[in-house]
Amino acid sequence: MLPPALAANCYHLIQKCDKVIKKSAHGLNTLINLNRIYQEDCLSFMSKLKDQKILVDVIVTSPPYNMNKEYGIYKDNKEREKYLQWMKNVAEKSYDILKDDGSFFLNVGGRPVDPTSPFEVATQFRTIYELQNTIHWIKSVSIDAEDVGKNNEFREYGNISIGHFKPIVSDRYLSDLQEYIFHFTKTGNIKLDKLRIGVTYQDKTNIGRWKSAKQDKRDRGNVWLISYPTIQEGRPHPAVFPIKLPERCINLHGIKPNMLVYDPFMGIGNTALACLRLGLNYLGTEIDAEYIKVAQDKIASTPLETYLSEDNHEFI
Ligand SMILES: C[S@@+](CC[C@H](N)C(=O)[O-])C[C@H]1O[C@@H](n2cnc3c(N)ncnc32)[C@H](O)[C@@H]1O
Repeated sequence: MLPPALAANCYHLIQKCDKVIKKSAHGLNTLINLNRIYQEDCLSFMSKLKDQKILVDVIVTSPPYNMNKEYGIYKDNKEREKYLQWMKNVAEKSYDILKDDGSFFLNVGGRPVDPTSPFEVATQFRTIYELQNTIHWIKSVSIDAEDVGKNNEFREYGNISIGHFKPIVSDRYLSDLQEYIFHFTKTGNIKLDKLRIGVTYQDKTNIGRWKSAKQDKRDRGNVWLISYPTIQEGRPHPAVFPIKLPERCINLHGIKPNMLVYDPFMGIGNTALACLRLGLNYLGTEIDAEYIKVAQDKIASTPLETYLSEDNHEFI
Protein backbone atom coordinates (compact mmCIF):
# COMPACT_ATOMS: atom_id res chain seq x y z
CA MET A 1 0.00 0.00 0.00
CA LEU A 2 1.30 3.46 -0.96
CA PRO A 3 1.66 6.13 1.74
CA PRO A 4 -1.30 8.57 1.36
CA ALA A 5 0.93 11.54 0.40
CA LEU A 6 2.55 9.54 -2.40
CA ALA A 7 -0.83 8.19 -3.52
CA ALA A 8 -2.20 11.76 -3.72
CA ASN A 9 0.80 12.85 -5.78
CA CYS A 10 0.31 9.91 -8.14
CA TYR A 11 -3.38 10.81 -8.50
CA HIS A 12 -2.57 14.40 -9.45
CA LEU A 13 0.05 13.21 -11.90
CA ILE A 14 -2.49 10.91 -13.52
CA GLN A 15 -5.03 13.76 -13.65
CA LYS A 16 -2.49 15.97 -15.36
CA CYS A 17 -1.38 13.29 -17.78
CA ASP A 18 -3.15 13.69 -21.14
CA LYS A 19 -3.68 10.01 -21.71
CA VAL A 20 -6.99 8.24 -21.98
CA ILE A 21 -6.59 4.59 -21.04
CA LYS A 22 -9.44 2.17 -21.55
CA LYS A 23 -9.88 -1.56 -21.95
CA SER A 24 -10.37 -2.59 -25.56
CA ALA A 25 -13.00 -5.09 -26.67
CA HIS A 26 -10.23 -7.69 -26.71
CA GLY A 27 -9.43 -7.13 -23.06
CA LEU A 28 -6.06 -5.57 -23.89
CA ASN A 29 -5.14 -2.16 -22.58
CA THR A 30 -5.06 0.25 -25.49
CA LEU A 31 -3.90 3.79 -25.21
CA ILE A 32 -5.21 6.87 -26.92
CA ASN A 33 -3.10 9.92 -26.28
CA LEU A 34 -4.89 13.21 -26.49
CA ASN A 35 -3.24 16.02 -28.43
CA ARG A 36 -1.92 13.68 -31.09
CA ILE A 37 -2.43 13.11 -34.79
CA TYR A 38 -2.74 9.42 -35.63
CA GLN A 39 -1.59 8.04 -38.95
CA GLU A 40 -4.75 6.05 -39.46
CA ASP A 41 -7.92 5.85 -41.54
CA CYS A 42 -10.49 8.08 -39.86
CA LEU A 43 -13.28 5.48 -40.06
CA SER A 44 -11.30 2.83 -38.20
CA PHE A 45 -10.14 5.41 -35.65
CA MET A 46 -13.72 6.54 -34.99
CA SER A 47 -14.69 2.90 -34.38
CA LYS A 48 -11.94 2.71 -31.75
CA LEU A 49 -13.17 5.89 -30.09
CA LYS A 50 -16.67 4.41 -30.01
CA ASP A 51 -15.42 1.10 -28.55
CA GLN A 52 -13.60 3.04 -25.88
CA LYS A 53 -16.61 5.28 -25.21
CA ILE A 54 -14.63 8.42 -25.93
CA LEU A 55 -16.94 11.26 -26.95
CA VAL A 56 -15.91 14.52 -28.58
CA ASP A 57 -17.47 17.98 -28.26
CA VAL A 58 -16.64 19.38 -31.68
CA ILE A 59 -15.62 17.88 -34.99
CA VAL A 60 -14.23 20.35 -37.48
CA THR A 61 -12.81 19.14 -40.74
CA SER A 62 -12.36 19.47 -44.44
CA PRO A 63 -12.47 16.14 -46.29
CA PRO A 64 -11.01 15.59 -49.75
CA TYR A 65 -13.44 17.20 -52.26
CA ASN A 66 -13.02 14.51 -54.93
CA MET A 67 -11.72 17.00 -57.45
CA ASN A 68 -8.46 15.31 -58.37
CA LYS A 69 -6.25 17.39 -56.07
CA GLU A 70 -2.65 16.25 -56.00
CA TYR A 71 -2.34 14.93 -52.46
CA GLY A 72 0.74 13.01 -51.31
CA ILE A 73 -0.70 9.50 -51.10
CA TYR A 74 -4.48 9.97 -51.21
CA LYS A 75 -6.06 9.59 -54.67
CA ASP A 76 -8.72 12.28 -54.96
CA ASN A 77 -10.68 10.75 -57.83
CA LYS A 78 -13.19 8.28 -56.44
CA GLU A 79 -16.25 7.32 -58.46
CA ARG A 80 -18.95 9.84 -57.48
CA GLU A 81 -21.25 7.28 -55.82
CA LYS A 82 -18.37 5.73 -53.89
CA TYR A 83 -17.22 9.15 -52.74
CA LEU A 84 -20.69 10.10 -51.51
CA GLN A 85 -21.10 6.74 -49.75
CA TRP A 86 -17.72 7.32 -48.06
CA MET A 87 -18.89 10.73 -46.85
CA LYS A 88 -22.06 9.09 -45.51
CA ASN A 89 -19.91 6.57 -43.65
CA VAL A 90 -17.92 9.45 -42.13
CA ALA A 91 -21.19 11.05 -41.00
CA GLU A 92 -22.46 7.77 -39.50
CA LYS A 93 -19.26 6.96 -37.63
CA SER A 94 -18.90 10.51 -36.35
CA TYR A 95 -22.46 10.51 -34.99
CA ASP A 96 -21.51 7.74 -32.56
CA ILE A 97 -18.60 9.67 -31.08
CA LEU A 98 -20.10 13.18 -31.00
CA LYS A 99 -21.69 14.32 -27.75
CA ASP A 100 -25.45 14.94 -27.94
CA ASP A 101 -24.84 18.70 -27.68
CA GLY A 102 -21.82 18.59 -30.00
CA SER A 103 -21.22 20.31 -33.33
CA PHE A 104 -19.82 18.97 -36.60
CA PHE A 105 -18.43 21.72 -38.85
CA LEU A 106 -17.89 20.36 -42.36
CA ASN A 107 -15.91 22.57 -44.74
CA VAL A 108 -16.48 21.65 -48.39
CA GLY A 109 -15.86 23.49 -51.63
CA GLY A 110 -16.85 22.84 -55.22
CA ARG A 111 -15.64 23.68 -58.67
CA PRO A 112 -17.34 25.89 -61.23
CA VAL A 113 -17.75 22.82 -63.50
CA ASP A 114 -19.24 20.79 -60.64
CA PRO A 115 -21.02 23.33 -58.42
CA THR A 116 -23.49 20.96 -56.73
CA SER A 117 -20.86 18.64 -55.24
CA PRO A 118 -20.78 20.38 -51.80
CA PHE A 119 -24.58 20.11 -51.56
CA GLU A 120 -24.48 16.43 -52.43
CA VAL A 121 -21.99 15.85 -49.61
CA ALA A 122 -24.21 17.89 -47.27
CA THR A 123 -27.20 15.80 -48.37
CA GLN A 124 -25.39 12.64 -47.25
CA PHE A 125 -24.76 14.22 -43.85
CA ARG A 126 -28.40 15.32 -43.61
CA THR A 127 -29.50 11.68 -43.64
CA ILE A 128 -27.73 11.41 -40.26
CA TYR A 129 -27.62 14.93 -38.81
CA GLU A 130 -29.68 18.13 -38.73
CA LEU A 131 -28.20 21.01 -40.72
CA GLN A 132 -28.23 23.82 -38.14
CA ASN A 133 -26.29 26.52 -40.04
CA THR A 134 -24.79 27.06 -43.46
CA ILE A 135 -21.80 29.37 -43.38
CA HIS A 136 -20.15 30.91 -46.43
CA TRP A 137 -16.37 31.05 -46.13
CA ILE A 138 -15.25 33.95 -48.32
CA LYS A 139 -11.58 33.90 -49.29
CA SER A 140 -11.54 37.21 -51.09
CA VAL A 141 -13.95 40.06 -51.76
CA SER A 142 -13.92 43.29 -53.75
CA ILE A 143 -15.91 46.19 -52.36
CA ASP A 144 -16.83 49.34 -54.26
CA ALA A 145 -16.44 52.52 -52.18
CA GLU A 146 -20.05 53.52 -52.89
CA ASP A 147 -21.26 50.35 -51.18
CA VAL A 148 -19.31 50.96 -48.00
CA GLY A 149 -21.63 53.58 -46.50
CA LYS A 150 -20.97 57.16 -45.43
CA ASN A 151 -19.77 56.75 -41.85
CA ASN A 152 -17.28 54.02 -42.45
CA GLU A 153 -13.55 54.55 -42.33
CA PHE A 154 -13.09 52.05 -45.16
CA ARG A 155 -14.50 54.68 -47.50
CA GLU A 156 -11.17 56.49 -47.56
CA TYR A 157 -9.53 53.51 -49.27
CA GLY A 158 -11.74 53.84 -52.36
CA ASN A 159 -12.55 50.56 -54.09
CA ILE A 160 -10.81 47.72 -52.26
CA SER A 161 -10.07 44.03 -52.73
CA ILE A 162 -9.21 41.86 -49.73
CA GLY A 163 -7.74 38.35 -49.54
CA HIS A 164 -6.23 35.82 -51.93
CA PHE A 165 -7.70 33.38 -54.42
CA LYS A 166 -6.61 31.18 -57.31
CA PRO A 167 -7.85 32.90 -60.48
CA ILE A 168 -9.66 30.69 -62.95
CA VAL A 169 -8.59 30.70 -66.61
CA SER A 170 -11.96 30.64 -68.34
CA ASP A 171 -14.25 32.91 -70.31
CA ARG A 172 -17.28 31.00 -68.99
CA TYR A 173 -16.77 30.76 -65.25
CA LEU A 174 -16.11 33.30 -62.53
CA SER A 175 -13.23 32.62 -60.16
CA ASP A 176 -14.44 30.68 -57.14
CA LEU A 177 -13.88 32.80 -54.04
CA GLN A 178 -15.94 30.89 -51.50
CA GLU A 179 -16.53 27.53 -49.86
CA TYR A 180 -19.16 26.21 -47.46
CA ILE A 181 -19.01 25.34 -43.80
CA PHE A 182 -22.02 23.17 -43.03
CA HIS A 183 -22.77 23.13 -39.31
CA PHE A 184 -24.41 19.85 -38.35
CA THR A 185 -25.83 18.94 -34.95
CA LYS A 186 -27.86 15.99 -33.64
CA THR A 187 -31.03 18.00 -32.96
CA GLY A 188 -30.69 21.23 -34.95
CA ASN A 189 -31.32 22.94 -31.65
CA ILE A 190 -27.89 23.38 -30.06
CA LYS A 191 -27.29 26.65 -28.24
CA LEU A 192 -24.24 28.45 -29.61
CA ASP A 193 -21.96 31.14 -28.23
CA LYS A 194 -22.69 33.57 -31.08
CA LEU A 195 -21.34 36.66 -29.35
CA ARG A 196 -18.00 34.97 -28.74
CA ILE A 197 -17.40 35.47 -32.46
CA GLY A 198 -19.60 38.56 -32.59
CA VAL A 199 -18.72 41.91 -34.15
CA THR A 200 -19.11 45.42 -32.77
CA TYR A 201 -22.04 47.58 -33.89
CA GLN A 202 -21.24 50.03 -36.67
CA ASP A 203 -24.00 52.29 -35.36
CA LYS A 204 -23.58 52.46 -31.58
CA THR A 205 -27.09 53.90 -31.10
CA ASN A 206 -28.33 50.33 -31.65
CA ILE A 207 -26.95 49.41 -28.21
CA GLY A 208 -29.79 49.89 -25.80
CA ARG A 209 -32.31 50.66 -28.59
CA TRP A 210 -32.82 46.96 -29.23
CA LYS A 211 -33.69 44.67 -26.35
CA SER A 212 -31.24 42.05 -27.58
CA ALA A 213 -28.36 44.57 -27.80
CA LYS A 214 -27.01 44.55 -24.23
CA GLN A 215 -23.37 45.10 -25.19
CA ASP A 216 -21.39 46.36 -28.16
CA LYS A 217 -21.45 42.97 -29.87
CA ARG A 218 -23.82 41.58 -32.46
CA ASP A 219 -24.26 38.34 -34.34
CA ARG A 220 -21.56 38.08 -37.02
CA GLY A 221 -23.88 36.24 -39.35
CA ASN A 222 -23.10 33.39 -41.71
CA VAL A 223 -20.74 35.14 -44.14
CA TRP A 224 -17.17 34.82 -42.92
CA LEU A 225 -14.31 36.54 -44.69
CA ILE A 226 -11.20 34.59 -43.70
CA SER A 227 -8.11 35.32 -45.79
CA TYR A 228 -5.28 32.90 -46.30
CA PRO A 229 -2.03 34.07 -44.72
CA THR A 230 0.60 34.94 -47.37
CA ILE A 231 2.76 31.88 -48.09
CA GLN A 232 6.36 32.76 -48.98
CA GLU A 233 7.86 29.29 -49.49
CA GLY A 234 6.50 26.16 -51.19
CA ARG A 235 3.16 24.69 -50.17
CA PRO A 236 3.48 21.50 -48.10
CA HIS A 237 -0.18 20.56 -48.78
CA PRO A 238 -2.48 21.41 -51.71
CA ALA A 239 -5.76 22.02 -49.84
CA VAL A 240 -5.57 23.58 -46.39
CA PHE A 241 -7.84 25.91 -44.48
CA PRO A 242 -6.49 28.83 -42.41
CA ILE A 243 -6.17 28.19 -38.65
CA LYS A 244 -8.75 30.90 -38.10
CA LEU A 245 -11.45 28.77 -39.73
CA PRO A 246 -11.49 25.90 -37.19
CA GLU A 247 -10.76 28.43 -34.44
CA ARG A 248 -13.88 30.43 -35.27
CA CYS A 249 -16.03 27.30 -35.60
CA ILE A 250 -14.93 26.06 -32.17
CA ASN A 251 -15.52 29.48 -30.63
CA LEU A 252 -18.99 29.59 -32.17
CA HIS A 253 -19.84 26.21 -30.66
CA GLY A 254 -18.68 27.59 -27.29
CA ILE A 255 -15.72 26.72 -25.10
CA LYS A 256 -16.10 24.53 -22.01
CA PRO A 257 -13.48 23.12 -19.65
CA ASN A 258 -11.91 19.83 -20.81
CA MET A 259 -13.41 20.07 -24.26
CA LEU A 260 -12.17 17.65 -26.91
CA VAL A 261 -12.00 18.51 -30.62
CA TYR A 262 -11.47 15.94 -33.37
CA ASP A 263 -10.42 16.46 -36.99
CA PRO A 264 -10.76 13.22 -39.02
CA PHE A 265 -8.84 14.71 -42.01
CA MET A 266 -6.15 16.63 -40.17
CA GLY A 267 -3.81 17.40 -43.11
CA ILE A 268 -0.96 19.56 -41.86
CA GLY A 269 -2.54 20.24 -38.51
CA ASN A 270 -4.45 23.52 -38.71
CA THR A 271 -7.23 22.28 -36.42
CA ALA A 272 -4.61 21.15 -33.92
CA LEU A 273 -3.00 24.60 -34.04
CA ALA A 274 -6.41 26.23 -33.52
CA CYS A 275 -6.91 24.04 -30.43
CA LEU A 276 -3.49 25.03 -29.11
CA ARG A 277 -4.43 28.67 -29.50
CA LEU A 278 -7.63 28.04 -27.59
CA GLY A 279 -6.04 25.82 -24.95
CA LEU A 280 -8.19 22.81 -25.89
CA ASN A 281 -7.49 19.11 -26.28
CA TYR A 282 -7.53 17.68 -29.77
CA LEU A 283 -7.33 14.41 -31.65
CA GLY A 284 -6.62 14.04 -35.33
CA THR A 285 -6.28 11.39 -38.01
CA GLU A 286 -4.40 11.67 -41.28
CA ILE A 287 -3.24 8.86 -43.56
CA ASP A 288 -0.19 10.67 -44.95
CA ALA A 289 2.91 10.51 -42.74
CA GLU A 290 4.50 13.47 -44.55
CA TYR A 291 1.59 15.75 -43.65
CA ILE A 292 1.69 14.58 -40.04
CA LYS A 293 5.39 15.39 -39.93
CA VAL A 294 4.69 18.94 -41.19
CA ALA A 295 1.93 19.29 -38.58
CA GLN A 296 4.19 18.08 -35.79
CA ASP A 297 6.94 20.50 -36.80
CA LYS A 298 4.47 23.38 -36.87
CA ILE A 299 3.03 22.41 -33.50
CA ALA A 300 6.50 22.17 -31.98
CA SER A 301 8.02 25.28 -33.48
CA THR A 302 5.58 27.90 -34.71
CA PRO A 303 4.99 30.94 -32.54
CA LEU A 304 1.20 30.94 -32.79
CA GLU A 305 0.87 34.72 -32.75
CA THR A 306 2.54 34.89 -36.20
CA TYR A 307 -0.67 33.63 -37.81
CA LEU A 308 -3.20 36.01 -39.22
CA SER A 309 -5.23 37.53 -36.41
CA GLU A 310 -8.83 38.82 -36.46
CA ASP A 311 -7.90 42.37 -37.50
CA ASN A 312 -5.04 41.63 -39.86
CA HIS A 313 -6.56 41.22 -43.32
CA GLU A 314 -4.37 41.78 -46.31
CA PHE A 315 -5.12 44.21 -49.08
CA ILE A 316 -4.33 43.22 -52.66
C1 LIG B 1 -8.66 18.74 -47.52
S1 LIG B 1 -7.34 17.93 -46.76
C2 LIG B 1 -7.40 18.53 -45.09
C3 LIG B 1 -6.48 19.69 -44.87
C4 LIG B 1 -6.52 20.26 -43.47
N1 LIG B 1 -7.79 20.90 -43.17
C5 LIG B 1 -5.40 21.31 -43.27
O1 LIG B 1 -5.72 22.51 -43.13
O2 LIG B 1 -4.23 20.91 -43.33
C6 LIG B 1 -7.88 16.27 -46.61
C7 LIG B 1 -6.86 15.32 -46.00
O3 LIG B 1 -7.48 14.05 -45.77
C8 LIG B 1 -6.45 13.06 -45.81
N2 LIG B 1 -7.15 11.76 -45.92
C9 LIG B 1 -7.65 11.16 -47.04
N3 LIG B 1 -8.26 10.00 -46.72
C10 LIG B 1 -8.19 9.88 -45.37
C11 LIG B 1 -8.67 8.90 -44.45
N4 LIG B 1 -9.35 7.82 -44.85
N5 LIG B 1 -8.44 9.10 -43.12
C12 LIG B 1 -7.74 10.19 -42.69
N6 LIG B 1 -7.25 11.14 -43.53
C13 LIG B 1 -7.47 10.99 -44.86
C14 LIG B 1 -5.63 13.49 -47.03
O4 LIG B 1 -4.34 12.93 -47.00
C15 LIG B 1 -5.64 15.03 -46.87
O5 LIG B 1 -4.49 15.49 -46.21
